[in-house]
Amino acid sequence: MTGPRHFADIDAMDGDTLRDILEGAKALKKARAGKGQAAPDAGAPLAGKLLAMIFEQPSTRTRISFDVGMRQLGGETIVLNGQDLQLGRGESVADTARVMSRYVDAIMLRTKSHAVLEELMAHATVPVINGLTDLTHPCQLMADVMTFEEHRGPITGKVVTWSGDGNNMATSWIQGAARFGYALRLACPPELQPSDRAVDWARRHGADVSVGSDPEAAVDGADCVVADAWVSMHDDPNSDRHNMLARFRVDERLMSRANADSVFMHCLPAHRGEEVTDAVMDGPQSVVWDQAENRLHAQKGILAWCLR
Ligand code: CP
Ligand code: NVA
Repeated sequence: MTGPRHFADIDAMDGDTLRDILEGAKALKKARAGKGQAAPDAGAPLAGKLLAMIFEQPSTRTRISFDVGMRQLGGETIVLNGQDLQLGRGESVADTARVMSRYVDAIMLRTKSHAVLEELMAHATVPVINGLTDLTHPCQLMADVMTFEEHRGPITGKVVTWSGDGNNMATSWIQGAARFGYALRLACPPELQPSDRAVDWARRHGADVSVGSDPEAAVDGADCVVADAWVSMHDDPNSDRHNMLARFRVDERLMSRANADSVFMHCLPAHRGEEVTDAVMDGPQSVVWDQAENRLHAQKGILAWCLR
C-alpha cells in the first residue's frame, strides 16, 4: 500500500514530479488571469477538502498564500498556532498526527525542528507539506524556480549564486540544483557554511555545486543572485552573525559583477541594509514581489498534487 503524498523536501521528490507540479501551477495561474482573489478556480478542484496549517514560527507569506490558494481551489483551511495545541504542552507529535488525520485532508507544518516534520509525516495518514523547518524551505524553492523561468526561461544550465548564511533556504537551493539542473555557487562565511550532507547528496545526484567564502568570485557569471536573512527564525539573535556576514551583503556593486541580465531574488522577509540594500531590492533586477506572488501559485500546484 502506498502512503500519503507528502511534500517533504526537494530531495524526496523526483525531477519529473517537481516539473509536473510547476506545470500545474503555471496552468492554474494562467487560468486565473483577471479574476478577483476570492473567485474560485474553474471546477473547484479541491472542493470538500480541508487543509490544517500548524505554525510554530511566525509567517506572513506562507500563512496567507496557503489560505488563499486553498480557497481558490475550492477547499477550506484551519490555521493553528502550535502553542495553542496540546502539542504545546507535551502531547506527542505522533499522536497529534493520528488525531489530525481523522479531521482534515492535509496538514501544512512550519516548525523550528525538522525532526517534528519527520515525525508528523511518519504518523499522519494524510499528506503533510513542509512549510519551512530549520533545515529546508521547499515551497519557497518551487516558487523561486517558477519565478526565474517566467523572467528568464528554463533554469536548467543557468548559474545561481547564493551569498550569505548557508541556511535552510540555501539547502533547498542545493537540493534544487540536482532536480532542476542549474549550477549553484554558494558564498558563505567559514562559520556558516551550508550543510555538507546536502552538498554531498546534490553532487552524488549530478549537481554542479561549489561552496566558498568569496561573494565576488561566486557572483561572476551569475544569472540569478539570491540573498536571505542573516538571522533565521530558529537562530540565536545574539550571535555574531552580523559581523560575519557584512561582506556578503548584496549591493549594487556586487550585482554589477553578475551577468547584465541577472535577476535578484529574496524569499522575504528582507532586512534592508543588512543582507540586501534598498537599491537592489527596489532596483530593475529585483523579482522579489513576483517570488512572493508565486508562493500562491506554486503551492496550489503542490496542494493539487498532494490531494488529487
Ligand atoms: N518566505 C516566507 O516563507 O515568508 P513567511 O515567513 O512570511 O511565510
Ligand atoms: N531563512 C529564513 C527564511 C524565512 C522565510 C528563516 O528561516 O527565518
